[in-house]
This record gives sequence, C-alpha cells and structure tokens, in this order.
Amino acid sequence: MKIAIINGPNLNLLGKRETDIYGNVPFEKYLDELKVLFPAVIFHYYQSNVEGELINELQKVGYDYDGIVLNPAGYTHTSVAIGDAIAAIKAPVVEVHISNVHSREHFRHLSHVSGKSAGSIFGLGMKGYELAIRWLIDRK
Ligand code: DQA
Repeated sequence: MKIAIINGPNLNLLGKRETDIYGNVPFEKYLDELKVLFPAVIFHYYQSNVEGELINELQKVGYDYDGIVLNPAGYTHTSVAIGDAIAAIKAPVVEVHISNVHSREHFRHLSHVSGKSAGSIFGLGMKGYELAIRWLIDRK
C-alpha cells in the first residue's frame, strides 16, 4: 500500500516553529516513527512552501497512490486551487492539522480542503497523521 504525506508551507520548520502550538519534533523524525509503526506501507513524503508545487504533487501522486495525508497549512484557508486539485484526483485525501484550527483565529475556521476531503482531523497534534494513515489502511 502506498501513502503520500504532503505538508504545506512552514511545516519544514516543525520542531523549531511556535513549539507551544506545533510541538518540538521535526517532521522527518516523526516520519521515522510512522515507518516503524506501519512497516507494510510504502511512504512518500513531500513538503513545499509553494502553492503550485503542492498542486503539482497532488496531481502526481493522486492517480497512483492509495491515499494521501495532506496538511496544507496556511493554504487551507486561502486556496481554492488546492481544493480543486483534491476534487480532481482519485486517491482519497485526509486533511490533517496539528493544532485545533477551530479554537484559533477566525480566519483559520475556513477550509477550502475539508469539503473535498474524505475526512479531516485537527487538534490532535502529530498523532493526527497516524490516525489518518490508520483510516486509509482500514478502508482498503
Ligand atoms: C496548521 C494550521 C494552519 O492554520 C496553519 O497555517 C499552519 C499549520 C496545523 O497543522 O495546525 O501552518 O495546518
């Protein structure tokens, strides 16, 4: 089973960015833990700070992978185009946010991604990625 994890802008700074909100574990380190937890899964990890590159990646893996775990970060709240890309591809997408976007600023309550995704997880920290992967595995 092939699962792609796609992270949006500033998530390359996990571990040193607003650690009170996002924790102090770099994503690459957490990815190593996920690979141990799910040895049968072939993971592909991609991170970009650029909206169009995220869309290119969704299109690239979206017809080939069994599922996508997507944290579009700030683009969640602004990008109609990322929502359109999710609607266009075949692979189910689970939207993940580390923080509880609904307990934060009002502008974070809008997601252009939720309505196009199979489901959304927010506020459960990095564990949200693991839960999203479990769901993708179980639905197969
Ligand atoms: C985030 C929440 C977004 O509002 C924010 O812009 C991020 C990270 C999260 O994982 O909690 O960069 O997607």
